[in-house]
Amino acid sequence: MYTFDDKGGRSLTLRPEGTAGIARAFIENGLHMAKAPAKFFYNITAYRYETPQAGRFREFRQFGIEYFGSPSPFCDAEVITVAHEIFKRLGIDVKVRINSIGGPECREKYVGELKKFLAATLHELCADCKERFEKNPLRVLDCKNPKCWEKIAGAPNILETLGAECAAHFETLKKILDGSVKYEVDEKIVRGLDYYTKTVFEFYSDSFASALGGGGRYDNLIKELGGPAISGVGFAMGVDRLAAVLADSAPETGSPDLYVGSVGETAAVFAARKAAELRAQGFKAETDIMGRSVKAQLKYADAVGAKNVVIIGENELNAGAVEIKNMSAGTKKTVLIDQIGENL
Ligand code: HAM
Repeated sequence: MYTFDDKGGRSLTLRPEGTAGIARAFIENGLHMAKAPAKFFYNITAYRYETPQAGRFREFRQFGIEYFGSPSPFCDAEVITVAHEIFKRLGIDVKVRINSIGGPECREKYVGELKKFLAATLHELCADCKERFEKNPLRVLDCKNPKCWEKIAGAPNILETLGAECAAHFETLKKILDGSVKYEVDEKIVRGLDYYTKTVFEFYSDSFASALGGGGRYDNLIKELGGPAISGVGFAMGVDRLAAVLADSAPETGSPDLYVGSVGETAAVFAARKAAELRAQGFKAETDIMGRSVKAQLKYADAVGAKNVVIIGENELNAGAVEIKNMSAGTKKTVLIDQIGENL
């Protein structure tokens, strides 16, 4: 948590994520009285007091969705497939790793078994693991230190301790996901937040070391926050991490379709109006706003990667026609001055 004292000596904590806030808003506004399921999305800044490193910031942005009101695995499946589709439309190839950490009863049983197993190797594990062993033993499975992986490789499998209802929920989820999204079962996914029950999942891309998104089911959170006993499922993706992945693959989008150059003041006014008109038609058009010579205008058009260039002078205005030069092909085409857009 990013917690600090403000100038009035009050202890403030910045929100670390979106789920709890959405759940509180849902309760405070009595939205459970309206339709079920209730579906929400958010795009927020969040804050965590973590050691900053690649893809891990103290201030970051999250986009997420939350579904309230359905205890069914069909809800988990829809949230996972919607998230998967968002990544797909962004052109990011992701794989989702899923797991079930069961309900409170299955988990209590499992944590008992896990603690027995870990107690034997605890002295060989890292300081983080030792702390987690006391506070939240499940998270030892989530350790990022490769030296610990070997020691915990033989830990009991949480999926083998699930009760019948939780196991059936997970089986149905897998059946719905089969064939629609790329997933693998990873019993080491336990998630860093405490409110999860049953399904948990994380999205990974080969081009980024940490998770691009994650989420899961939380059947008790709304009740714990003072609301009715209503289930929730959601996920959030790290917008900064998406930006980092997309920066490597994004096509160049900034270059103008046309640079409208000019010679002389009358033509400059005409060129400015023409550029505005072309922008209104949806083109990226630039013109000279620096009072440059034609030579300097052409140099600039080249520097910004303009795809086409026209130069308008007195002759062009009198003739009502301009020559469009296609910069990559090197070809020229004479067109009516009123039909530049149609000819781009
Ligand atoms: P989370 O896994 O803690 O889940 O965060 C979701 C995503 O936010 C991560 O996968 C990552 O992309 C991004 N993220 C987290 N911490 C940082 C950071 N320090 N710097 C940059 N990006 C970060 C949640 O927050 C849950 N609320 C998700 C959820 C919604 N579960 C149910 N509903």
